[in-house]
Amino acid sequence: MAASGLVPSNRPGDGTVAILGAGSLGRLWAGYLPAGTALFVPRTDSPDQSRYPVSYQLLCPDDTERPVTVAWFDPACQLPDLLLVTTKAQDTLAALETVMPMLPEHTPVVLFQNGMGSQQAVAARWPDRPVLAASTTEGANRPAADITVHAGRGQTWLGALTASANPVITKVTETLASTGLEVIPTAAILQRLWDKLIINAGINPFTALLDCPNGDLLTAPLFLEHIDALCREISQLLEAEKLPTASPQALRQRIEQVATATASNTSSMRADVQHGRATEIDYINGFMVSRGARLGLPMPVNQMLTEQVKQLSTNYGR
Ligand code: PAF
Repeated sequence: MAASGLVPSNRPGDGTVAILGAGSLGRLWAGYLPAGTALFVPRTDSPDQSRYPVSYQLLCPDDTERPVTVAWFDPACQLPDLLLVTTKAQDTLAALETVMPMLPEHTPVVLFQNGMGSQQAVAARWPDRPVLAASTTEGANRPAADITVHAGRGQTWLGALTASANPVITKVTETLASTGLEVIPTAAILQRLWDKLIINAGINPFTALLDCPNGDLLTAPLFLEHIDALCREISQLLEAEKLPTASPQALRQRIEQVATATASNTSSMRADVQHGRATEIDYINGFMVSRGARLGLPMPVNQMLTEQVKQLSTNYGR
C-alpha cells in the first residue's frame, strides 16, 4: 500500500529497512545492512534534506573502513519491510506521528531509544502495530559529519512490546543479524531496558556534569559523594516496581564495571551537552523520579542530577 497509490519501486520482502534518525546509531545499522537495503526517513522539519543521499565512512573495530551511501525513503514509491527508530528519546513520539501513517500497518517498528518511557509511549499510542524494543551495547559516535565510528562491538537484544510483534521477532532478528552484528531475541526486553537504564543513570549525568570520559568518574568527588545514595534509590525503586532486585553495592559495582570497560568513551549525554543538544535526562534519571513519585518513593539524588543536567543544557544553549 503506497501512500499515493503509485507502484512501489521495491518489492515487499526484499529486505528494505527504513531508518528514522540518521545519527550515530542509525548510521551504524545502515552501514552494516546489505548495500542498498537501508533508507533514511527524511525529517519533516528539514525539507531540503532529502535531495542528496547521505555518504560517510564507517570506521569498523577491526580497523577497516566502509564507504556508505544511503538514499532517502520516499513513502510514495517504496515499501519498507522494517522501520528502525534511532531518534533521541524525546523526539520519538512526535517523529513517529508523521511517519506511522506512511507505513503499512503490518510493518514492524523497532525502537532503539536510551532510557525508559518513550518506548511505552509508542506502544500505547499504536497498540495494534508490531512494535519492538531493542537494547544495544554497540558503541558508535560521529566525530565528523562524514565519519561514523563503530567504537566497539556489542550485542543487541530485541523483544516485543505489543502482541502483534511476537510473531515477527524471528524475521526481524534475521534482518538485523544480516548486518553481521549480534542480535538476540528475548522475552525479557523490559528487564534489558531496566538494566541499561541503571547503567545510564549512574554514568551519563555525572559525565555530562563533569565533562569527562566515562572512566574519569571513578575518582571524581561528585561521583564518589553521590553514587551510594543514588544506588540506594535505584535499589528501592526496583523493589517497589517488583522487578528483580539488586543491593546498592551490586548496582554500584555494575555501574563501575561499565565505566571501567568504556573508560575512554564520551557518554551520549556528555556528547549531547557538548553539542548544545537536548539530553535524554527525562528518560533516564527523570524517569526514575517520576516512577518514584507514583510509588511514594522520594528520589532526591536522581532529582538533583536531573535538575543539574537540565541547567547545564540551558547554560550551553546560551
Ligand atoms: O549512553 C551511553 O553513552 C552508553 O550507554 C554508556 C554505557 C554510558 C557508555 O558510554
